[in-house]
Amino acid sequence: MEAIILLLLALISLTCSIIAFATSDQIPIQDFCVADVKYSETVYGYACKDPKLVIADDFYLSGTELAGNTSNPFGSSAKRISLTQLPGLNTLGITIARADFAPWGVNPPHYHPRASEIITVVEGTIEAGFITSNPENRLLKKILVKGDVFVNPRGLVHYQRNVGDGNAAFIAALASQNPGVVMVGNAVFGSDPTISSDLLAKAFHVDENVIHKLQEAN
Ligand SMILES: *[C@@H]1O[C@H](CO)[C@@H](O)[C@H](O)[C@H]1NC(C)=O
Repeated sequence: MEAIILLLLALISLTCSIIAFATSDQIPIQDFCVADVKYSETVYGYACKDPKLVIADDFYLSGTELAGNTSNPFGSSAKRISLTQLPGLNTLGITIARADFAPWGVNPPHYHPRASEIITVVEGTIEAGFITSNPENRLLKKILVKGDVFVNPRGLVHYQRNVGDGNAAFIAALASQNPGVVMVGNAVFGSDPTISSDLLAKAFHVDENVIHKLQEAN
């Protein structure tokens, strides 16, 4: 009897790990597959450049210390490093990005459907937080300074803002080649075509005029 239970448990955990494998980036079956950007990108990334033609520069990028342009209504900039810039990332299941903030600049609530994220503050003071799923919707937040790290679990809504006097910035590492980003405001109030405003008014317990304002702003 105990043996059967053990066997069942083993089967369940095996099934779970197969599911986890199937829903994340694939494990590479070669040392690397440097993106050959002459060909277009497919859902699994780019075709591989001939390994004999691969050079160290394919895995190298300079300039991540350069701040992005924060002259916009959010006072922030978030830029993912592309495979064209760093072709060696292709098929490795990781992405890097840099975010910059003017004083009180905000990176609005958003989530990455396919990746957890680690942010490392390289300048300034940043409030960073994420919200757990229903029904708790608990906000877990921290004030971060240079050298501090914060983790945003995959698929959870998160945000950051600059709470210091000067500029602020972080470098983000994401656990997928194609993490995706869903900006909550844009998705709900700025979809194309828009979701009916009477539906959203009911969903958010507000007057339809409030929804119209939000739809105009997104
Ligand atoms: C930053 O962006 C603003 C708004 O798009 C633009 O007017 C400005 O020229 C940009 N600054 C730089 C240094 O690129």
